[in-house]
Amino acid sequence: MTEKQTENPTLTSNETATRTYYESTDVDRFYDIVWGGEDIHTGIYDHATEPVADASRRTVERLADHLADHLSPGRTVLDLGSGYGGTARYLADRFGCDVVALNLSEAQNERHRAANAERGPDGLIEVVTGSFHEVPYGDGHFDAVCSLEAFCHSGDRARVLGEAARVLKPGGALAFTDIMAAEETPAEDLRPVVARLGVDALATPAFYLDQLAELGFDPVGFDDHTPQLARHYVRLTADARAREADLRAAISPAYVDGLLANLPLWVDAARADRLRWGVFHGRRA
Ligand SMILES: C[S@@+](CC[C@H](N)C(=O)[O-])C[C@H]1O[C@@H](n2cnc3c(N)ncnc32)[C@H](O)[C@@H]1O
Repeated sequence: MTEKQTENPTLTSNETATRTYYESTDVDRFYDIVWGGEDIHTGIYDHATEPVADASRRTVERLADHLADHLSPGRTVLDLGSGYGGTARYLADRFGCDVVALNLSEAQNERHRAANAERGPDGLIEVVTGSFHEVPYGDGHFDAVCSLEAFCHSGDRARVLGEAARVLKPGGALAFTDIMAAEETPAEDLRPVVARLGVDALATPAFYLDQLAELGFDPVGFDDHTPQLARHYVRLTADARAREADLRAAISPAYVDGLLANLPLWVDAARADRLRWGVFHGRRA
């Protein structure tokens, strides 16, 4: 990857907060114990009691369907905010394409690299430490760009989409998911809910659709899967409660208490129709 410019840009306070969050042992163990340490995003559930890991994998499959025409051996996709690498491994396996997995958290990246070496497909995935606010690649480098539930952490989402557009080839495909607020939800109503993410407010679907249009993506679509959010947080809350003893054995009491208090807030906000979630997809002009 000769166009990679830097691996450790100076971090903003928003980025530092996000990195500190994901690099804490408590958060890392929570994602490992409850979420399975592979995919950490909202699932698309077939039925209400489906395991979180299966539903989360279905989300990756649906997102990948939007990239299918653009990915094959020799082509490259960029995953922004790549977590433990579940999406990167899926894309490399399914399409035989190269994947650049860009992620802020070096602790996650180390686990990601170890998982690639153990389970493959090693060689197709490059894990890069960096921020999606300043993607360390040149213009028009990628055939496709994707992201799963990472933009919710950003303090400047217009810039993230601008970076995604910049590094895409003309005609390249973008697909991403994010947790958002409903258009009419005042930001202060969600503040206690999103406190865990280290941001003041979430985006809305209209914000993303407007930004994509402004950046010249055409066509643009949004598959609205909002009803899945309540299901997902009900499942996560139930799993966290069922595994409370395991969590308490591995994670600090303050974190477990905060988590068990915070997860039901997501259930309440989803049931009150204050949140939105789904898959955005578009083609760069
Ligand atoms: C909820 S996790 C989702 C991880 C992964 N996409 C998945 O679905 O399994 C959010 C991810 O966004 C990453 N992230 C947050 N802010 C970032 C930034 N400014 N640049 C790059 N990655 C970021 C975090 O490190 C974390 O891996």
